[in-house]
Amino acid sequence: MKGIILAGGAGTRLYPSTIAVSKQILTVYDKPMIYYPMSTLMLAGIREVLVISTPRDIDSFKNLFGDGSQIGMDISYAVQEKPRGLADAFIVGASFIGNDHVCLVLGDNIFYGYAFTERLRSAAARKDGATIFGYHVSNPRDFGVVEFDGQGNVLSIEEKPQNPKSSYAVPGLYFYDNQVVDIARQVKPSARGEIEITAVNNVYLAAGKLKVELFGRGMAWLDTGNHRSMLAAANFVEAVQTRQGLYIACLEEIAYRNGWIDKQALLSQADRLKTTEYGQYLYQVAEMVKPRQP
Ligand code: G1P
Repeated sequence: MKGIILAGGAGTRLYPSTIAVSKQILTVYDKPMIYYPMSTLMLAGIREVLVISTPRDIDSFKNLFGDGSQIGMDISYAVQEKPRGLADAFIVGASFIGNDHVCLVLGDNIFYGYAFTERLRSAAARKDGATIFGYHVSNPRDFGVVEFDGQGNVLSIEEKPQNPKSSYAVPGLYFYDNQVVDIARQVKPSARGEIEITAVNNVYLAAGKLKVELFGRGMAWLDTGNHRSMLAAANFVEAVQTRQGLYIACLEEIAYRNGWIDKQALLSQADRLKTTEYGQYLYQVAEMVKPRQP
């Protein structure tokens, strides 16, 4: 399975911080925002990742991750000339996807919670159709929203509805079979001029091939849409890391635990970051964790 991170957008709700840099490069406590969705893909077991961004910002991500080999990954890059919508990721990424399945994660979506890795692994293992998620939120109008019948079957998904039919929003994490490339090509732009991921999901729904899995209370899906929610996300990460002494979205740790990098590679990343608590944590990981055999 391939992974795509869509890290475009103008980030106008974070002005003036995003006038000169990409939103997904901004820090969320102690690491760039894009580390969080990258960790999501890595936890799903995905090593080949395409980062899609704007002509202005793509180089920032190249400078940050390079070819990804330092974290045992194969990372490539593509430019989206205009913000044509989320589903455009599958058109921009068509040759990268090839004949494979694909997971799309939005560059500003942060997930953290108990048994998340198992959920990811089982979604990634599914051969046919699409898997998306539902998450209870207080502001469903801001998202794609799932409508259920009395038996919990999905009836519809609506993009930013005025009158939401439930409180379950669809987070920016989607697993698809290879059909998604053709489906994205056929989707017509919405009123806001974008080819919507919700339209793609509705095609799968109509074909009886959409699985919507609900995340329960133990799961955090954090918003980074404005300055206040950025601070709340940073506080959350700091609180969990300080309390547990275990890091959220520590890419080198995930790579090491997965057996994708050896101890020497881990230690060289630790040396590079040694003036930070993050770097010191990497030394601890090297001492305490037994990696899986590559
Ligand atoms: C997009 C999707 C929406 C989804 C949300 C998750 O919204 O269109 O369905 O719920 O991401 O972050 P946008 O960020 O384009 O407003």
